[in-house]
Amino acid sequence: MFKLSIFLLTVCSLVPFSKNAAVDMFKNKFKKQTDEVVGLYSLKDDVDILTIHNFKQDVFGSEKVWIVEFYNSYCGFCQRFAPSWKEFATDVRGWKDVVRVGAIDCANDENNPLCREFEIMGYPTLKYFHEKYAEGANNFGLAIKAGSGAAEHKKVLINTIVNEQTENRGKYLPNLLPYSASTADDLLKNRPATVKHMFLVVQEPESYMGQSLILDLNKVSDTVIKYTLNNNTALLTSLNLHKTPSVLVWDVNGNQRELDVAVDPKKTVLDYLHIKTNENNKGSGENTGVEAPSLQQENMLDEKIRKMGDAVFQKDLETALRYSLRREVSRTKEITGDKLVALKKYLDVLIKYFPFGKYGRSFLLELKQFVGSSDTIDGGDIFKIVKAAEKEERQVFSSPEGWLGCKGSAKTYRGYSCGLWRLFHYLTVNHAEQNVDNPAANPKEVLEAMHGYVKEFFGCTDCSTHFQEMSKRRNMFEVKSLPDSVLWLWSAHNEVNNRLAGDETEDPGHPKVQFPVKDRCPACHLDDDSWDTGEVLKYLKHVYSSINVRYIDSDTRILHLGLDGNRNATSGSSGFFHTIDARLLPGFSSLVCLITSIYYFSYI
Ligand SMILES: Cc1cc2nc3c(=O)[nH]c(=O)nc-3n(C[C@H](O)[C@H](O)[C@H](O)COP(=O)(O)OP(=O)(O)OC[C@H]3O[C@@H](n4cnc5c(N)ncnc54)[C@H](O)[C@@H]3O)c2cc1C
Ligand SMILES: *[C@@H]1O[C@H](CO)[C@@H](O)[C@H](O)[C@H]1NC(C)=O
Ligand SMILES: *[C@@H]1O[C@H](CO)[C@@H](O)[C@H](O)[C@H]1NC(C)=O
Repeated sequence: MFKLSIFLLTVCSLVPFSKNAAVDMFKNKFKKQTDEVVGLYSLKDDVDILTIHNFKQDVFGSEKVWIVEFYNSYCGFCQRFAPSWKEFATDVRGWKDVVRVGAIDCANDENNPLCREFEIMGYPTLKYFHEKYAEGANNFGLAIKAGSGAAEHKKVLINTIVNEQTENRGKYLPNLLPYSASTADDLLKNRPATVKHMFLVVQEPESYMGQSLILDLNKVSDTVIKYTLNNNTALLTSLNLHKTPSVLVWDVNGNQRELDVAVDPKKTVLDYLHIKTNENNKGSGENTGVEAPSLQQENMLDEKIRKMGDAVFQKDLETALRYSLRREVSRTKEITGDKLVALKKYLDVLIKYFPFGKYGRSFLLELKQFVGSSDTIDGGDIFKIVKAAEKEERQVFSSPEGWLGCKGSAKTYRGYSCGLWRLFHYLTVNHAEQNVDNPAANPKEVLEAMHGYVKEFFGCTDCSTHFQEMSKRRNMFEVKSLPDSVLWLWSAHNEVNNRLAGDETEDPGHPKVQFPVKDRCPACHLDDDSWDTGEVLKYLKHVYSSINVRYIDSDTRILHLGLDGNRNATSGSSGFFHTIDARLLPGFSSLVCLITSIYYFSYI
């Protein structure tokens, strides 16, 4: 019966979807940008995240100019500064062919030597690096004073560029010096024949309108923009102009027209040129080709997720796993000794209990093999292996990177630490489920793996110290049974929740409560405010069970693929049917298969 049903399920999993369809769908998912957070910025922001690995390559010798924030993610001032830096980067995103906005986290151990080399004494420090900047003994960039707010940052940048250009640098940038001749002849007579539109902006000396427009439209061909200050009275008189600000445009035949720029000069100019702007694309006027979900759609999804209560999402589990391997484990240059042991144990429990499909599991096995190949492993190699596995055609991950159930109400909340908790709860529960009939199972298997991981790799140092202390105090190493292992983690997590309730890191949208709340599990709560641990165990086994994992934003076909594959790698069979029917739920054809399978099972 067993073999036949495997056969049946295999056919089901392969027939309804072609592999290419799965790849296509996966590709589409990956078009979305990741929202992985690095220090105070995420890859979704328009700020270029610099590290010790890319700083010199990107900044030195570049034809672009760089304006870089050196910060420390733990400094409160930097945390308050970051939103304005992001806003600024978004605003000037359209200038990125000539200007890059970067940030480097000096709190990151790895980046530390670079921050030391640049003699960064306070945070945040802003530095400007002109084009073709050369590495050298005292070449630490030009220190510039931080303004307050995105608009100020923009002015500081423009002022710096103008100063640079008065000193004959900034030659890959468009000319941001004001036009100072007393007639427009020079502009009109000497323009190249290819120029179809010649704009002249008239502005107050304190204004940045002309400079911004020049940079905004730098990439627009056939167009030249100049600006002049309104104290250039000779020029204004010759043009019979009396209004500031104003924008004149000459077409290819030299016909002059004045544009009304009272409201939005950039839009006015773009409209004149018939260039469409994307409402969402605030600063750039260019199309990134990435379709962001509308705010409304996003709110609806958030609401839906919220209503799903304590549900566990495949996407969160995968995102936590990716982050842990690619960003945390890989951070160690030489993984050896205790660290290596911890990594092996972590991989072992992932191989056995992580809800992956065939290719996901092969990836973990490959990684395990690599980790076992030497006494010292280079974290950089782990990074490369994971990166390679993230290629969509590998079909290792079923979801794009990002958070659903672990999404915070703001970017600084929740995310990875929430994902890591959930991942380990999931592993304890599935460890217990898969080994019910296995008296030889080590009840501490997952807890020990977690302890090792948190001790050796978890980037939150305080958390790690607390957790180790708590494990000792709560006798984690004396846990005697599988259910006790599930409950140990539950109880320990509640202690952390209790300690952090009301803390400033608490997401106001997700207050720290004792889990599970009464509404979700009335039976868990006894009258005297104590727990019915039998009911709690049932509840945990329910929410963290493989059959209850939710697949929003995941391509279940990837999990589904060749499920027969490595099943023999896991011990015990009780988790078997569970894992499979969960994979079968989505999709009509799968449903038909499920029904057939159930029919088949009951028939036998
Ligand atoms: C090992 C570890 C130690 C940490 N130590 C600290 C620390 O010392 N100081 C600090 O500031 N932060 C610490 N953190 C971070 C902190 O615990 C939270 O992860 C973070 O504040 C985000 O909270 P959250 O609201 O997303 O919920 P989290 O506490 O991260 O919980 C994630 C999800 O797990 C579920 N859950 C909650 N409680 C339980 C439970 N008892 N049993 C089962 N499921 C539960 C809920 O669905 C919840 O949404 C630690 C994180 C980890 C992984
Ligand atoms: C106009 O103002 C700018 C800046 O205030 C100054 O540098 C420039 O010399 C002035 N030009 C004239 C013609 O007065
Ligand atoms: C599963 O079994 C097959 C055939 O018995 C074997 O070839 C394969 O290597 C096994 N898979 C694993 C991961 O052990």
